[in-house]
Amino acid sequence: MIALACDHGGFQLKEEVKKHLDELGLPYEDFGCHDGEACDYPDMAKLACDAVVDGRCDRALLFCGTGIGISMAANKIKGIRAAACSDWFSAKYTRAHNDANALCLGGRVVGAGLAIELVDIFLNTPFEGGRHSRRVEKLAALENLR
Ligand code: RB5
Repeated sequence: MIALACDHGGFQLKEEVKKHLDELGLPYEDFGCHDGEACDYPDMAKLACDAVVDGRCDRALLFCGTGIGISMAANKIKGIRAAACSDWFSAKYTRAHNDANALCLGGRVVGAGLAIELVDIFLNTPFEGGRHSRRVEKLAALENLR
């Protein structure tokens, strides 16, 4: 199950990505916003990321104007490793090396075509493990310093 959330800056792109997930038959839960009305990306990030942390969802796809604000919010949530991406290399290696569990996309940065490619790469690239596991464990240890 994929968790989706956006603010108004990412609303249209989220809708485009939903169409793609529908075509693929991939299940998702959309935590809003549902109408493009102005809302605050930290609130929206929390709704979707809580679902990942508590196991209701496997990964989150998050959208705001830049992808950055919602990634900052998501990375404040314990257990979330979020990456704002606008190129395929980053989308691939944040999965392979960082075991990212949230992809953040900017509705004012990337078009729907690229966003869909990035989503596919993100969803289909496995974590490599090995030496990267130690580093991801150290990310979790940093969370405990807060
Ligand atoms: C909203 O106008 C915009 O600031 C927000 O979507 C996002 O880009 C913040 O990082």
